[in-house]
Amino acid sequence: MRTWAIANQKGGVGKTTTTVALGGLLASQGKRTLLVDTDPHASLSGYFSVSGEDGLGSVYELFTGDPRHPESIKSMLRATPYPRLWVLPAAPALATLDRQMSSRSGMGLVLRRALTNLDFDHVLIDCPPMLGVLMINALAACDRLLIPTQTEFLALRGLERMLQSLAMIEQSRRSRLPRLIIPTLYDMRTHASRESLQTLRERYGEDVADNFVPTDTQVREASVNGVPASLWSAARRACPAYHLLLDEILATEPTEETA
Ligand SMILES: Nc1ncnc2c1ncn2[C@@H]1O[C@H](COP(=O)(O)OP(=O)(O)OP(=O)(O)O)[C@@H](O)[C@H]1O
Ligand SMILES: [Mg+2]
Repeated sequence: MRTWAIANQKGGVGKTTTTVALGGLLASQGKRTLLVDTDPHASLSGYFSVSGEDGLGSVYELFTGDPRHPESIKSMLRATPYPRLWVLPAAPALATLDRQMSSRSGMGLVLRRALTNLDFDHVLIDCPPMLGVLMINALAACDRLLIPTQTEFLALRGLERMLQSLAMIEQSRRSRLPRLIIPTLYDMRTHASRESLQTLRERYGEDVADNFVPTDTQVREASVNGVPASLWSAARRACPAYHLLLDEILATEPTEETA
């Protein structure tokens, strides 16, 4: 099972869009894929019209439920209209987790432990845009970090903050987490986009994906229709970009030993 966390402390950079696009594409290629929504805003759950408040459980219950029954995660998974694509939804109550959990120790590995009870080819964890117990859990549970980064200057500063947080977490993890920076919302007509993509490559070299996701108004249409942008052919720029990006991610998967 391959587990990727999709995270950036900066909001609105394409984390959820990218999680859904890559996950939808993996499932369409025959991989059993689980999308985990750890954002209290539950945008990913909403993408597939799934609610974590329907009584079937959500990521919130992983933290507050009986730790002796971690296997109950299986009954919390929701099917999507896409074969092999499943969602573990978020719930708004997740927003209260940091306050509740700060006094309890050992809360950083809840997600990692719960996921060991599952059998998927790929698990993609969509993170909220803030450093807290949920992002820490996602980073502890994953074997690779994907960092969507909008190609504009404020977003580059957000990326620096994200990488600083990561360095802090890596100290307790005692290993370097393989990471890939994914340039998003790239608009080749603007000087700002071109220049910030170049800056990204100069500063972060190998950690930056060769492929990027261009701005495409059809991405929003895809989300309104509950279709991953990678499977929405009207997204003439973003759809093929996500195909190339997934090929690149799979071709550069760290080996088990280095992960
Ligand atoms: N390539 C793209 N072209 C055009 N719009 C896009 C693209 N990618 C994402 N968007 C739009 O940008 C907005 C933010 O995207 P998304 O929700 O994926 O970001 P996010 O990083 O998950 O945000 P948050 O931090 O709030 O969770 C959405 O309205 C989405 O439809
Ligand atoms: Mg999001």
